Amino acid sequence: MKPILISGIQPSGETHIGNYLGALKNFVYLQNSGRYQCYFFVADLHSITENYDPAQKYRQIIDVVLNYLAIGINPEKSVIFIQSQIPEHSELMWILNTITPMGELKRMTQFKDKSERQKENVNAGLFNYPVLQAADILLYDAEFVPVGEDQLQHLELARTLARKFNSKFPVGRKKIFVEPKPLLAEVPKLMSLSDPYKKMSKSMPEGCLFMDDSPDEIRNKIKKAVTDSGTEIIYDSEKKPAISNLIRIYGGFSKLSPKEVEKKFKEKNYGQFKKELADLIVESLKPFQVKKKLLSKKPSYILKIIEKGRKKAEKKVNPKIKQIKKAIGLEK
Ligand code: ADP
Ligand code: TRP
Repeated sequence: MKPILISGIQPSGETHIGNYLGALKNFVYLQNSGRYQCYFFVADLHSITENYDPAQKYRQIIDVVLNYLAIGINPEKSVIFIQSQIPEHSELMWILNTITPMGELKRMTQFKDKSERQKENVNAGLFNYPVLQAADILLYDAEFVPVGEDQLQHLELARTLARKFNSKFPVGRKKIFVEPKPLLAEVPKLMSLSDPYKKMSKSMPEGCLFMDDSPDEIRNKIKKAVTDSGTEIIYDSEKKPAISNLIRIYGGFSKLSPKEVEKKFKEKNYGQFKKELADLIVESLKPFQVKKKLLSKKPSYILKIIEKGRKKAEKKVNPKIKQIKKAIGLEK
């Protein structure tokens, strides 16, 4: 049996090229390697921990599914599903809550950042967010979890909880949970176009380049992207963080290493580099955008894929939750 791989994306705002280069691109590569049984889901329960408009949520959920399909996730090879349609995620989360030390959750940098950002809504869901994420992963016996660098701390908690559960609730010689390992992409942390010291994030849309941006928007955003002093295209994350970030984007879309990009633009200035970068992004995103447009006209096909995914996910987790409940003494 192939090892299991799982990852999720929140339906909150538009998908940006940080999500693409840090996660989505790798999802497709890993799926096509044929080495894993892949599950990709829409983390809608996670997304409701932040302020949102209920009238927009369903559209955002479908948008993530469209992104998965348009980028190359193949529903014949991978399971695509919606987190909230599988109630076992919430059920396991509750169980894991009972073995999660509050102190571990208080240390989470994403919790601290988000609480700072939405001071009027520091809810318990935001606090327990990483426990739900651990449940998402452990429920499927996933060995691998492709994510961006910002998720490593959450993954570490999932590993800790798996270990703790296994030793607290031993069942013969067999361990109930697998300890999952993160898989990082080549660009695990893309920085904002407007501030190279901050991660590109949906919460700061002014520094994002979105996957659905039009060619004009892409050209404008790249033109306006901050640069460093000097004129040369040099990859040096410390001294030239802004240009290095743009070099990483070029590399991500062209398969060139940062050094190769540097060499290619040796005699060029920032303006020339930016123009070629914008052209490269426009061309690279075109097939995705065309495919997404076509798919968005087939709502019943999309719903069929979601339903098929729900059934497959349900089949996987049904025996697992029984096994877990038995281990902790809730069932015989
Ligand atoms: P955001 O942080 O923009 O809200 P998500 O939380 O939905 O994005 O993240 C979806 C996936 O994209 C995760 O695997 C995450 O680690 C990755 N990711 C998010 N932002 C970046 C970034 N700037 N660079 C690389 N990967 C990222
Ligand atoms: N927290 C992840 C993010 O913000 C999304 C996510 C939820 C996830 N559950 C997951 C990622 C399980 C990997 C595995 O990007």
